[in-house]
Amino acid sequence: MSIQIPRGTQDIIPGDSELWQFIEQKAHDICRRYNYKEIRTPIFEQTELFARGVGDTTDIVQKEMYTFKDRGDRSLTLRPEGTASTVRAFVGNKLYGNANQPTKLYYIGPMFRYERPQSGRMRQFVQFGIEALGSDDPAIDAEVIALAMEFYRELGLSNVKLVINSLGDKESRNAHREALIQHFKPRIDEFCADCQQRLEKNPLRILDCKKDRDHELMSTAPSILDYLNENSQAYFSKVKNYLADMGIAYEVDPGLVRGLDYYTNTAFEIMLGGEGFGAITTLSGGGRYNGLVEEIGGPETPGIGFALSIERLLMALQSQNVVIPVKQSIDCFVIALGDKAKDKAASLLFELRKAGIVADKDYLDKKMKAQFKTADRLQAKYTAVLGDDELEANKINVKEMESGNQEEVALSDFVNYMKAKC
Ligand code: HAM
Repeated sequence: MSIQIPRGTQDIIPGDSELWQFIEQKAHDICRRYNYKEIRTPIFEQTELFARGVGDTTDIVQKEMYTFKDRGDRSLTLRPEGTASTVRAFVGNKLYGNANQPTKLYYIGPMFRYERPQSGRMRQFVQFGIEALGSDDPAIDAEVIALAMEFYRELGLSNVKLVINSLGDKESRNAHREALIQHFKPRIDEFCADCQQRLEKNPLRILDCKKDRDHELMSTAPSILDYLNENSQAYFSKVKNYLADMGIAYEVDPGLVRGLDYYTNTAFEIMLGGEGFGAITTLSGGGRYNGLVEEIGGPETPGIGFALSIERLLMALQSQNVVIPVKQSIDCFVIALGDKAKDKAASLLFELRKAGIVADKDYLDKKMKAQFKTADRLQAKYTAVLGDDELEANKINVKEMESGNQEEVALSDFVNYMKAKC
């Protein structure tokens, strides 16, 4: 029996990989404009990082991590997200000591979660995320949200909805936490075992429970917005004002709590409206995490970021029939006929490529007609035919495929000729 691909993973093969490259290039481009710099961290980390960073009452840490022991008996985990790793690297490399702050970073890379695979939910997926560390200016919250929204707009996605909330600062969160405990405690035995455990440890997580979603206490639970102290309220207002100034529409949803524990103040998700995208409508999510750097052993440093998966982005683009302009064609296909010409073609091709021209040739000893067919399939703009006769005369026959125009070109001029054409 042949070996199957693991569940919840996919191969990205030619035809699709060009789409990925296009999206990734757009991510690099927008980060350049917003002045975020790329960071690359390991795909696995010490398990402790995520237990502490993401939070040990979250679904991610309790149920979804790929955790294993290495041969030195260390517990390692394939990263389920990029924020904890980025913060670990920020601390480990003392990036907080750089003269230019905040430290604005981005990453594109695979993440791993043991989830039930379905459309838009993979066990290995690629996140593009950004993190701004070292500023608690509400303008940077708006900048992060703006970058995310602009990324979708520039790619041609429409019907994108921004939902925001504030989870408040420590004081507000503690007040809300107490209110949640009071609210759920008398009837906690009606909730699932996970929620019962969450009650004292992290009652906010109860609001995110998929099993008890329809319990009547859920809709009447105290709203964080009623517990925001003055500072948190003022902060949230400023973020909203900046968004309004940028013309970015948003909806406030006090029920938005996010699935990771590190959030404080601003939290947001970007959803896709309309149909055709399956059950999952969340395109990306993020928020502020002012205590995370300290939690991971660094100096007190505020932070904010967001992440999206390229898988969901591509599905969303497809659902709206957005055409991604990918370049499939090649500049020149060299057709060699005869033994000597074939030998010469190999070095000619090398020179063409050296000069920046996208070029290829036949390697299957095909007849001339079949070679022209290959050139057509590769959408070659030019074919260059080299027979032993042409070689004798130091010439090559160049044909522009669209017009059918042909020209004999001296072999010594060929590369420059092609350079001028392409
Ligand atoms: P998250 O909401 O867990 O947040 O994930 C962010 C995005 O990753 C989701 O909105 C979705 O696009 C994608 N995603 C998550 N799980 C899957 C999956 N199983 N299959 C496909 N796509 C998935 C975070 O990861 C935070 N680190 C975001 C952040 C950055 N917050 C602050 N900075």
